[in-house]
Amino acid sequence: LKPPSNRTNLTQTEVAGPLRTRFQERIVDAKQWSWNRTAMLEMRNAVRKVIDTAKSISILRSQTHIGDVMHYDIDNHNTFNITKDLYDLLPETSPLEGRLFNSCAIVGNSGILLGSGCGQEIDSHDFVIRCNLAPVTEYVKDVGRKSDLVTMNPSVLPTAFGGLKEKHWEEKFVKRLRMLEHSMLWIPAFTTINGEKYVQYTNRIILKNDLNIKTLYPTKHLAHSIRGFWLQAKTRIKRPSTGLYMYTIATRFCQEIHLYGFFPFTVDVNGRPVRYHYYDNGKYNFYDKRRPHSMPVEFQALRRLHDKGALRLLTDKCT
Ligand code: CTP
Repeated sequence: LKPPSNRTNLTQTEVAGPLRTRFQERIVDAKQWSWNRTAMLEMRNAVRKVIDTAKSISILRSQTHIGDVMHYDIDNHNTFNITKDLYDLLPETSPLEGRLFNSCAIVGNSGILLGSGCGQEIDSHDFVIRCNLAPVTEYVKDVGRKSDLVTMNPSVLPTAFGGLKEKHWEEKFVKRLRMLEHSMLWIPAFTTINGEKYVQYTNRIILKNDLNIKTLYPTKHLAHSIRGFWLQAKTRIKRPSTGLYMYTIATRFCQEIHLYGFFPFTVDVNGRPVRYHYYDNGKYNFYDKRRPHSMPVEFQALRRLHDKGALRLLTDKCT
């Protein structure tokens, strides 16, 4: 293994170029790695100075009224009204206020998880966060099952549940949601008008089926605050990806944070192809400038925090 490079401010284009291979080779021997409590605390305090993540994780019922007009975050000229369904599903208090878990897992969706055997390890953490309603049942051995908080971009409905256009898609969606009873479902509902009807479908379905899910709707400024945090930390991201979002929020309520399935590359360190998602054959160009995220740049920042012992980024097998 080559020693870690001292260069820390690589741009996304540089990572995409000849340095990419060298960058990936920096996967250091996990056995030499240990937690650095000071670095963990520094990270929590640094985030806390900029964002009150416990409060921003969801708007609360007491902060709004049915019929209130709000502006979307990205397409700010578009507005939406707080519907009765949404109002009824808003939490009364922030469910993570005052909580502190000893160990948390954040499970990204990279194909690097396939064959990892990480399921048992992931499920052993006190709090497990998953992204975008990724399926678990068929992949339990590699990704586990425990789900305390699951995110759901509204775009998941057209991409993974046929836009709920037919009955069988709705049934599949309800089945997936049922698995989240007593868990938190985090829906970034106020980002863009494109998601409006899917948010409304989701709310309706949760209420209609009387699902006992703790729904969270992050405040629309959270993405800006998180981006601002990383920019001032000299990490040139675009919009934070869900995974980075979750890590940043988790610094507030988790001590040890373990990241699995974060691997925005198409080949692993041994040159084997890696799928974008562990559960489908979707393709993704990580270096396409039109993409909203800069995942390789995010990965690099997380990698630096791993090297410092502030978090644990697992890109290898667990067994
Ligand atoms: N991820 C990763 N490497 C991959 C795929 C995903 O690091 N090959 C991480 C990213 O942090 C991503 C998270 O896992 O946000 C969840 O993946 P996915 O659901 O695919 O995210 P997207 O929908 O593509 O993007 P978004 O962040 O907007 O939800």
